Amino acid sequence: MDLEREFEQTVAADHRVEPRDWMPDGYRATLVRQIAQHAHSEIIGMQPEGNWISRAPSLRRKAILLAKVQDEAGHGLYLYAAAETLGADREELTEKLIAGRQKYSSIFNYPTLTYADVGVIGWLVDGAAICNQVPLCRTSYGPYARAMIRVCKEESFHQRQGYELLMTMMSGTEQQRALVQESVDRWWWPSLMMFGPPDAESSNTEQSMLWRIKRHTNDELRQRFVDMSVPQAAKLGVTLPDPHLVWNAERGHHDFGEIDWTEFWQVVKGAGPCNAQRVEHRRKAHEDGAWVREAATAYARKKEQAA
Ligand code: 3HC
Repeated sequence: MDLEREFEQTVAADHRVEPRDWMPDGYRATLVRQIAQHAHSEIIGMQPEGNWISRAPSLRRKAILLAKVQDEAGHGLYLYAAAETLGADREELTEKLIAGRQKYSSIFNYPTLTYADVGVIGWLVDGAAICNQVPLCRTSYGPYARAMIRVCKEESFHQRQGYELLMTMMSGTEQQRALVQESVDRWWWPSLMMFGPPDAESSNTEQSMLWRIKRHTNDELRQRFVDMSVPQAAKLGVTLPDPHLVWNAERGHHDFGEIDWTEFWQVVKGAGPCNAQRVEHRRKAHEDGAWVREAATAYARKKEQAA
């Protein structure tokens, strides 16, 4: 059987495509693009919350936040390793990120202004990540699907710790409750933008669905996230900042207001509140870490020569 048919049969049978299998160049390129940008998102995503590790209000909260930020680093490493199975070079991917030639999730270009943001990021941002990443456990590319299984287990801890932090604040003082509401007001719409542009403007969704890289479209997952978040917000006692948010019994989903796609594309194209700061921080960390990479390479070479 020819290789293309074998590939198509593997995908159609919901089996996994593995690194050694033949695959169309476009399939490989789309996977490198998505996995690399997913990895970049995890690494850049350490910055907003990292900002609060030294300011956490208790040792317990500090330990939880430290564990979460370390998890994100691990997620980035799994995903760079998955990209390498496609022939991508990790150093090159990092250089593309720093040069602005590859993207990372828009959500990480917003500032974390109060401690309530740590809880809201856990609840909404990691909650959105779970909606987006659970289906990726069934993505057609084996190494990506397997990386997602471990990532999703850790994401559910991330989401629960955030929600528990907010429940604690909401049973606190009037001022703490106001901090949570103000944070939700800032993070709700950017969280909806995490799922990408509307399907009608998504240049990659159709092909990614055919190749079963994506298992649901951007709008389907966004809707799933809205439907999941509304009862959680009610339980928490916060108001989601959308006057058009209402249950539509006919659709069996919540209707919600129009997202500001001008803001979305501005942030994606580099003009968000923190884009320059995030990329500059990543560039500096990469440069400051060059000596570690050189030492590790020299040590590996010495070990090889001694063997
Ligand atoms: N931020 C930045 N760029 C975005 C974006 C966002 N929120 N949404 C879409 N884009 C970009 C796409 O990358 C694409 O540009 P490209 O062709 O240059 O890559 C363009 O906008 C058009 O979007 P499409 O819908 O056509 O692109 P995709 O089919 O790739 O869908 C996606 C976008 C839904 C983000 C998809 O890539 C995906 O599911 N990626 C894997 C999950 C992921 O990366 N999540 C990011 C957050 S990681 C995270 O949440 C960490 C957690 O610990 C908090």
